[in-house]
Amino acid sequence: MKSLLVTGGAGFIGANFVRLVRATRPDVRVRVLDKLTYAGNAESLAGLDGVELVVGDIADADLVDRLAGESDAIVHFAAESHNDNSLRAPEAFVTTNVVGTFTLLEAVRRHGTRFHHVSTDEVFGDLPLSGGEKFTEQTAYAPSSPYSATKAGSDHLVRAWVRSFGVPATISNCSNNYGPYQHIEKFIPRQITNILTGRTPKLYGTGAQIRDWIHVDDHNRAVLDILERGVVGKTYNIGADQPEVTNKQVMEMICTLMGDGDEPVAYEHVADRPGHDQRYAMDASKLRRELGWAPRYTDLEEGLRATIEWYRTHREWWLASKEAVEEGYAARGQ
Ligand code: NAD
Ligand code: DAU
Repeated sequence: MKSLLVTGGAGFIGANFVRLVRATRPDVRVRVLDKLTYAGNAESLAGLDGVELVVGDIADADLVDRLAGESDAIVHFAAESHNDNSLRAPEAFVTTNVVGTFTLLEAVRRHGTRFHHVSTDEVFGDLPLSGGEKFTEQTAYAPSSPYSATKAGSDHLVRAWVRSFGVPATISNCSNNYGPYQHIEKFIPRQITNILTGRTPKLYGTGAQIRDWIHVDDHNRAVLDILERGVVGKTYNIGADQPEVTNKQVMEMICTLMGDGDEPVAYEHVADRPGHDQRYAMDASKLRRELGWAPRYTDLEEGLRATIEWYRTHREWWLASKEAVEEGYAARGQ
């Protein structure tokens, strides 16, 4: 692989992926295709040599066709990614997540480009709060929100293009990521930056919901493994298999880590998310068994400490957007 196209490479996971590729695959030429929506930030790629940013839309067929023809492989991160936004304004989710993925697949079909599609555990819906059941690659799709429904649709398109047209594609479905460069609309960075700006952290509902947290670098090492050694046509679940924690527990960890001595920061309960998924849990044993992948971040508290430090020392990256993000949440009682 000499030339790699990364869609959504100015977003959270994509930018961390580009950084990983630059650090570990110095001979690969990296191009990023990113529309720079509210969630994209060219600054997330600052200081990287040999990375070209093409500002454009994955639903632009002419542009995508040219870039696919000039690339050996595409890793597809670009998406509208926030559930709360999809409840308010779902149209962009259909356009980007479904039509954008279709546009990429058509280009890949013409050029034979290797394609890796980055998806989410949310396509499987949710699990009951109690019980040890986990999502496997065989779990039936049952998405709950407009966001997860459009991601499920894009996964189905990829499988159909593999089977019908022989497109050389793989898919990965990963659980909740955390780490540097995550947009401050998301749970963990929202609470960290609330505290850093003197605002009260906000927990939806009772906070009983469970997410299966994984550090973004562990997710991205898995994506690279699948791209380089995965079996074309296959799907891989990605998850760190860590002790389960509720949102309330994660909130309390953050409030303790950022508190004053023994005094944790106080937080408040706000309106719950409509249709809120209860519990996610990934069975990633296939990835571990077949590709030898294992997570390196196995202590959530340590990972949170490092993430808090990143936001503390990178205010210039997030501060300008904080007020507008919070105004949007306040308008919805959150
Ligand atoms: P993000 O919102 O931080 O970044 C998305 C990027 O895509 C942004 O840079 C944005 O500008 C770009 N983009 C949006 N629409 C575009 C378009 N039409 N054309 C080109 N670029 C466009 O998202 P993220 O959290 O980094 O997620 C990346 C991918 O990983 C998504 O496909 C998401 O579904 C998936 N995923 C995310 C998580 C998570 O916890 N964040 C977990 C599993 C899977
Ligand atoms: O599971 C993978 C998914 O994880 C990805 O596909 C999505 O792109 C990503 O956004 C994430 O979805 P969630 O909806 O789980 O993440 P979010 O950070 O929005 O919320 C995590 C949990 O925290 C969720 O149960 C809602 C809750 N929450 C969220 C916010 C923003 C709060 O309690 N307070 C908040 O302020």
